[in-house]
Amino acid sequence: MVSRLLSVSVTTTLLIIISVFIMRRLRSSLSLRDTKKPDRPDRPDRTGSSPERAMLSRRLASALPDSVILPHDDAAFKQSMGSYWAQQECEVIPACVVRPRNVQQLCTAVTLLKREYDERGKQADEGEAQGLFAVRSGGHSPVAGAASIKGGVVIDLGLFSEVTPSEDGSSVTIGAGAKWMDVSKVLDEKGLAVIGGRNSAVGVGGLTLGGGLSFFSPRFGLVCSNILSYEVVLASGSVVNASASTNPDLWRALKGGSNNFGIVTRFRFRSFPSTKIWSGFLYMPAVRPAKVLAAFHEFVNRADSRDPSTAYDDHAAGPIACFTYIQRVGAQVIAVNLVYTKPLENEKQWPTCWRTSSFRSLFRFWSTCKVRTLTSATDEMNALNPPGRRQVFATTTIKNDPATLAAVHAAYRDGIASLRRVNVRGLVWTLVLQPLLPDWVRKGDANPLGLHDCADEPLVIVSFTINWDEGRDDEFVKTTTRRTVEQIDAFAAAHRTGHRYRYLNYCAEWQRPFKGYGAENWQFLRRVSKSYDPEGLFQKACVGGFKLDVEDGEA
Ligand SMILES: Cc1cc2nc3c(=O)[nH]c(=O)nc-3n(C[C@H](O)[C@H](O)[C@H](O)COP(=O)(O)OP(=O)(O)OC[C@H]3O[C@@H](n4cnc5c(N)ncnc54)[C@H](O)[C@@H]3O)c2cc1C
Ligand SMILES: *[C@@H]1O[C@H](CO)[C@@H](O)[C@H](O)[C@H]1NC(C)=O
Repeated sequence: MVSRLLSVSVTTTLLIIISVFIMRRLRSSLSLRDTKKPDRPDRPDRTGSSPERAMLSRRLASALPDSVILPHDDAAFKQSMGSYWAQQECEVIPACVVRPRNVQQLCTAVTLLKREYDERGKQADEGEAQGLFAVRSGGHSPVAGAASIKGGVVIDLGLFSEVTPSEDGSSVTIGAGAKWMDVSKVLDEKGLAVIGGRNSAVGVGGLTLGGGLSFFSPRFGLVCSNILSYEVVLASGSVVNASASTNPDLWRALKGGSNNFGIVTRFRFRSFPSTKIWSGFLYMPAVRPAKVLAAFHEFVNRADSRDPSTAYDDHAAGPIACFTYIQRVGAQVIAVNLVYTKPLENEKQWPTCWRTSSFRSLFRFWSTCKVRTLTSATDEMNALNPPGRRQVFATTTIKNDPATLAAVHAAYRDGIASLRRVNVRGLVWTLVLQPLLPDWVRKGDANPLGLHDCADEPLVIVSFTINWDEGRDDEFVKTTTRRTVEQIDAFAAAHRTGHRYRYLNYCAEWQRPFKGYGAENWQFLRRVSKSYDPEGLFQKACVGGFKLDVEDGEA
């Protein structure tokens, strides 16, 4: 009796904790949207601007009078700076923002930037890097400086937001600056979907060019492997299409090559009929993480093609297992996202594949799993990841090995212990595990990620997503995150349970995702860069994001 009462009160307490947590996060996202962050703290001065840079801004503004936002246009400039997801990125203040209204305007901007780059190259000493501009779509990169540049030019693709399904419903043309919510709102109405992002506020451009993990990846492959064609503005200022038949090398390179080849204005996505999906989170106390790890391992192992007795249903997406420590309440919680992308016969029941998994019997104090639109499912993800906080991501890849999963969780716990000693205000420290199955990465078009030829066994993408309140903690949190990932990598190396792949869109700035694509693919990307951008505009003038290190030695 007493123990029963005790467990009820523990449950209630945990329920309250998690509700408070979610309400806070929701509220902070809403209030940030309302007040539009005019007085975000820690804004550095704007002295990144030199006379040459001011001149460049003026030149762009006179060529494109309605499409350049300068700092003296206070409201528009602040609005633009405040519209990044990570607070650190909001603090990278450019000299101007170019927001082209059409592809022609973008070509003009790139031509001017290329001219400036060529001129400076002549004046500058050999090999000097010349950060001039950054490219931005949804602004959700967690790496500061990936989609903005101090004292430089931001090319903001926000007005390239079209979502146009083809007449036969087999493809959809989507502007690079669209967000996934723009896409699903149009497609939900039509009973269509694309292999796209899982979070409504994330941008189409960055996610698609970095690889892309979708609820539909088990059925169709990675997001990048489902792009029929790209429209790209090259360093020369000209526009080309890249598809299986035109510029096929560029087409392949863009499937994971990020911003290294040109500026993509729009994508033609494969699409398919889709109505509602079953999706949601299970919230659990963090007292028995081993049970969650075991359920994760068991489910992912169903996809192990070396074991013919298990069958994997490719309408199931996830599990995405999130282990979170919340400093404000001094407690941990586990949330697991489960998805099923086929209509259910009985909407009240869990889909068979999940009902027969160990997740079904794990103790939970809350479940949000239900049948809903894709828009609703992606909004749920978004509500858990509000903008306006200091952020860091880092990632690694392991095999679906129980001992390594346990070591990952131990590293996560060690991280909490060292962060606790310093009391990082507002810290939310999250470990995320998600499967990456050999069968998924082989679906769709070939890409240079180096996963097609990976060992024939399930992989697990391990990522950390950390956020906190104050700039003074930046270095400490980053260092701790790095040390945590390195601890996992050391374990995996010693037990031969690691994998070289690092998902570019989850990488920290110190990581080198292209190295993880394998020497041959890395070499291929460098070759394509040399042929479409011989002077290296996108290597040396567009410095943000992950670069190919064209001039470094061999892999
Ligand atoms: C809350 C959250 C949820 C996420 N969920 C998912 C998920 O479900 N699946 C997944 O795969 N990833 C996910 N990610 C990771 C996401 O893919 C990356 O953050 C991605 O960079 C976001 O793209 P963006 O356009 O919003 O970012 P931006 O910051 O605008 O761009 C990111 C990088 O791409 C480059 N780039 C962007 N657009 C173009 C273009 N048109 N041409 C050339 N270069 C370009 C930029 O220069 C920059 O370096 C998530 C991230 C966050 C923060
Ligand atoms: C690229 O393809 C689109 C759609 O097929 C077409 O409208 C456009 O003219 C093409 N652009 C170039 C530069 O060939």
